[in-house]
Formats: sequence, C-alpha cells, structure tokens
Amino acid sequence: MEYDGIGDLIMTTPADSKPSLPPHRTVRVDLGPRAYDVVIGRGIRKNLKTYLDALGLFGPIAVVTDANVYKFYNVEIADISSRADDDSLKTVCLDPGEKTKELKSFDAVFQDYAFVQSALAKWRIPRSGIVIAHGGGVIGDLAGFVAATYLRGINFVQVPTTLLAMVDSSVGGKTGVNLPEGKNLVGAFHQPKLVVADLDTLATLPAREFSAGMAEVIKYGAIRDKALFDRVSKPVKPDDQDLDEIVEKCVTIKARIVERDEFETKGERALLNFGHTIGHAIEKATEY
Ligand SMILES: NC(=O)c1ccc[n+]([C@@H]2O[C@H](COP(=O)([O-])OP(=O)(O)OC[C@H]3O[C@@H](n4cnc5c(N)ncnc54)[C@H](O)[C@@H]3O)[C@@H](O)[C@H]2O)c1
Repeated sequence: MEYDGIGDLIMTTPADSKPSLPPHRTVRVDLGPRAYDVVIGRGIRKNLKTYLDALGLFGPIAVVTDANVYKFYNVEIADISSRADDDSLKTVCLDPGEKTKELKSFDAVFQDYAFVQSALAKWRIPRSGIVIAHGGGVIGDLAGFVAATYLRGINFVQVPTTLLAMVDSSVGGKTGVNLPEGKNLVGAFHQPKLVVADLDTLATLPAREFSAGMAEVIKYGAIRDKALFDRVSKPVKPDDQDLDEIVEKCVTIKARIVERDEFETKGERALLNFGHTIGHAIEKATEY
C-alpha cells in the first residue's frame, strides 16, 4: 500500500486494520513533490510514531526543543518517537526565547557544540534522519534551518506547541536564524514532511503567548476570511471546542498562499506579512 500523506492513511487503510487515530482535521499543503499534511486535533501527538511510519520516515530522530517545552513534554515525545532501538532518538534542549535564534549564540545556549548541526554530526545522524522541531516558532525556525543545512538537507517534522507556530510558522517552509543586523536574515526554504498540531499542548502555554498567536489568527481573518474575523472578535480560549476549526481555517489560508508563491517571488506571500513589517521596524528602532 502506498501512502501519500496522513489524510490518505486515514482514507485508504482498510477499516479492520485502521490505526486508532483520535479525531483530527487535515490540511494538505500541495507543493507537488514537497507536499505534506498539517494534522490538527487534540491528543494527536500521541500518534506521532504512527504518522512517521505511514510516511516511511524510519531514520534516527533528533528532537530540537526548548527548556519550557522539555519540562512539560519531553518524556512523552521521547516515548512517542522512539523505536525499539532506543539509541535512535536524541534531544537537543535549548534556552527558550528569541535569543536562541541568533546564529552567534548557538554555542552559548548549547554549550558542548558550536552548532546544533555539530551535535547531529557527533551522533552520526544520516541523511535518512529526521529533525523534529518540538516547540514554538523559535524552535521551528531554528530546527528547520538545522534540517535544511545539515548534510545539505534532511527530513524535517514540525510539532508546534504555540498557537503562533500552529497557525503560521510551522507551515510554509520558511526556516532561519537571526543576525545582529536583523531578524531571519540567514535561512532557507525547507518544507517539513509533516506538521502535527496538538491543541492540548496549548493548555500549558502562558496567556501572553496565546495572545501573540491570536494576533496572527486575527491577521488571517483580516486578509482573507470575514467569518473568521467575526468569530475572533469574541474571546478565544485554548480549550474552546471550535479552536480546531479556527486553526484549520488559518492553516488553509496560509497553505493556499504558499502553494501559489512558495519561494516568495510573486508578491502574494508578502500578504502574510500583513502588520509585521511595521512591527519589526518598531522593535528594531526601539530595541524592544
Ligand atoms: N517561519 C515562519 O514562517 C514564521 C512565521 C511567523 C513567525 N515566525 C517566528 O516565530 C518566532 C516566534 O514564535 P513563538 O511566538 O511561538 O515564540 P517562542 O517559540 O519563543 O515560544 C514562546 C514561549 O512559549 C514557550 N512555550 C512554547 N510552547 C509552550 C507550551 N506548550 N507550554 C508552555 N510554554 C511553551 C517557549 O518556551 C517560549 O518561552 C519568531 O522567531 C518569528 O520570527 C516564523
């Protein structure tokens, strides 16, 4: 049986052998040979290994995470991702926050090695290996850059744990790190093979970070979806029943834009920066 993504796994597996996957929504990001699924639901991180197997991703895994996420979810992610061979899962745990995305600070946050890539080399992660970004947008951008550059590019999977990462940064393949001269000045387009957005992880997210993600949700409403905009004019909470639908709508808007302008050459993808350029300018000018 051939698998062409998680959606197909659900649809084409005979009922009697169907893996018991919790209810979820799937958005396909249709980029031809680089197409992938964004799976959205509650409790679905527990199925990570099933998803990886379905996609034929059997290589050794390097999880990149930060200390806050590690504190809540490390044991789980290790359990979920590990194969019979325990040695096939390694974890890089970085300091939380935007400073971790600075190219020059890799050695400060990850004392043993100059670069996260050095750790992968030390562990002899091969080209069939998988980098799993387990965290918010900082971890996703940085781990994606590691996956894009180590051995000239290896498999990459996003398991976002902030609302912002679920609706925005984990989708679309933009990876990168910051220079002292500015944000995201070094990077690469490197699409993930899969995104698993488990809304249950938002229960531990500080309220301020949830609000930061809501700003992106409002952006999607403003640029493309009046019904979404109207919905988010009322309060949204991490345990809301319709949060999966809200995230799905945002991801779908982003996916359709990325499909038309994957490498940001046609101008349309710039729509996703709605409100950001002025924000970055204010941050830079005020050293916020
Ligand atoms: N690649 C893209 O397309 C894209 C798009 C938008 C933003 N970004 C980038 O995303 C970054 C911001 O991402 P962010 O807002 O997710 O910030 P973040 O990754 O710094 O996470 C915010 C904070 O929440 C903590 N955290 C994460 N998940 C948690 C959880 N489930 N429970 C408890 N704590 C948790 C983190 O440790 C951190 O302290 C920026 O660097 C920005 O440039 C990238």
